[in-house]
Amino acid sequence: MMIAIAADHGGYHLKNFLVQELSAKRHTVQDLGTHSVDAVDYPDYARALARSLLQGKAERGVLICGSGVGAAVAANKFPGIRAGLCHDTFSAHQGVEDDDMNVLCLGARVIGPELAREVVAAFLAAKFSRAERHVRRVGKIAEIERECAERLSKSEALNSH
Ligand code: RB5
Repeated sequence: MMIAIAADHGGYHLKNFLVQELSAKRHTVQDLGTHSVDAVDYPDYARALARSLLQGKAERGVLICGSGVGAAVAANKFPGIRAGLCHDTFSAHQGVEDDDMNVLCLGARVIGPELAREVVAAFLAAKFSRAERHVRRVGKIAEIERECAERLSKSEALNSH
């Protein structure tokens, strides 16, 4: 599978561990940084990861910061990204099966590398169920995204007059 992975400084070491693990399992891994422990801003990495998925360069994403919270908040601002912060294997696979989650967020200061590896494996092995009720619910999320985009473009049009 084509997987994009990115982290801020808080997630740097866990990212490197997961890049090695995923490469060893013959996944194609796109490492979008960061590439050192120097402090950076997690929204920049959320943007790079979202762009990769939305451009079809990766099928799934793993985004890491210290808690995973900032990563999830930032990633979910991008229409088409469905990011979940999961530190257990149940949420990691159910998030895909029911909610079509395409980005897994992790908090490197919360979860250890071994559990993170299992959570990532559960996330990658899962598939969206396409059950009617789940398709309907995910469709409603896309509807919210469209409504917000429409409201924004209408208010921009009003402000430009
Ligand atoms: C950076 O220190 C930290 O705030 C960040 O990694 C993350 O935990 C934010 O949610």
